[in-house]
Amino acid sequence: MSVGRPSRRPFPPAQGETSGDGVVHAVDIIGAKRDGAPLPGEWIDWVVDAYTKGMVTEAQMAALAMAIRIHGMDSAETAHWTTAMIDSGERLWLPVDRPTVDKHSTGGVGDKVTLVLAPLVAACGAAVPQLSGRGLGHTGGTLDKLESIPGWRANLSTAEMISQLTNIRAVVAAASTALAPADRKLYALRDVTATVESIPLIASSIMSKKIAAGPQSLVLDVKVGSGAFMKSREQAAELAQTMVEIGRSHGVATTALLTDMATPLGRTAGNAVEVAEAVDVLRGAGPDDVVELTLTLAREMLHLAGLPDVDLEPILASGQAYEVWCKMIRAQGGDPDAPLPSPKHIHVLEADDDGIVSEMDALAVGISAWRLGAGRIAPGATVQHAAGVRLLVTEGDRISSGQPLAELHTDTPDAVPAAVSALSAGIVISKTPPTRRPLVIDVIRG
Ligand code: URA
Repeated sequence: MSVGRPSRRPFPPAQGETSGDGVVHAVDIIGAKRDGAPLPGEWIDWVVDAYTKGMVTEAQMAALAMAIRIHGMDSAETAHWTTAMIDSGERLWLPVDRPTVDKHSTGGVGDKVTLVLAPLVAACGAAVPQLSGRGLGHTGGTLDKLESIPGWRANLSTAEMISQLTNIRAVVAAASTALAPADRKLYALRDVTATVESIPLIASSIMSKKIAAGPQSLVLDVKVGSGAFMKSREQAAELAQTMVEIGRSHGVATTALLTDMATPLGRTAGNAVEVAEAVDVLRGAGPDDVVELTLTLAREMLHLAGLPDVDLEPILASGQAYEVWCKMIRAQGGDPDAPLPSPKHIHVLEADDDGIVSEMDALAVGISAWRLGAGRIAPGATVQHAAGVRLLVTEGDRISSGQPLAELHTDTPDAVPAAVSALSAGIVISKTPPTRRPLVIDVIRG
């Protein structure tokens, strides 16, 4: 097959049929999706493979991604697209003598759960290979957070990963570039072509990376609310259902939880500040919402891994999970006892009125942390490890005028006015208490 001039065949072509000259053209595929037709599996295989090899141009893939963003893909197309992305690279085989189970969050504000969950579930007998990502926009990234620990390194060879998984049972590391390279390219393209917000593209992007990493089972934390990609419960449920179905069709037992991201998780958003909060949880303390979500996800992971439903709180309180954390950090060159970086500048935001905190908006907190330097302003930029927001109040707290509401941490004081303006817009003080929302909204099992 090759890419060439547009086909002259009547539209729409029959399923599985290629252009009249026996050659499939990128332009035919783009045109078919532009006009709302489902793409035959062999066309999907070809276009994903040709794009990975540079035979389909960025402009052509951008047009196709926009056509998919507008017209969607049905479940057969989405399953096929995911398989093509997995097949664009290696699929890991994890030869460990334990059930392997992974967790993926669709991204939120203050979500440090992975840092606690991997050691906790490993302490219960599973092997947890967590290939994680970096921050995207206002949402934080696990690797950026962990890199605030002096010496810790995200990049491991496959042999190092398997050895750590065998000996310590928990690895949180960067995904190798050999896993789903089509997604790496396509994700960067979608980021700059307004085509991220497409359920089939998000589902296939996440699941291709997760399936290629080789776990036997997977728990998905699909975030819903202002700080998440999915703003409504309906969208989140559709994304969750799509990913659970993809997991099932690839032999990976998958469960998805829909969880609240209207307000940040815990009291911190940023890098070092979130690591410190995660360590509090690993030592049996920390904010209730982080503990509740971690324990709920851990139970689902143990269930999928076929392990007994043990009482998890004592494993945190006794320091067993913290011990695994220390080993995991040391194995990747980090020093779990070293002081975390502290910011050059701390600005305290104070309340200008008496009342009740009726809203603490996740998106506002995420944007504030991002502006302070916790996230990137351009692809590949460095992040400030000490930057972030520490919330001193939470939804439902009664406060008085002049009371400190939040600390804004940064190495670049020039960033403070924009960060204060973003954060202030998201903290609503009124006379009425907030409506309580459940943290775990729904569970979708395969
Ligand atoms: N995370 C991913 O890995 N891919 C997406 O498309 C969106 C979020």
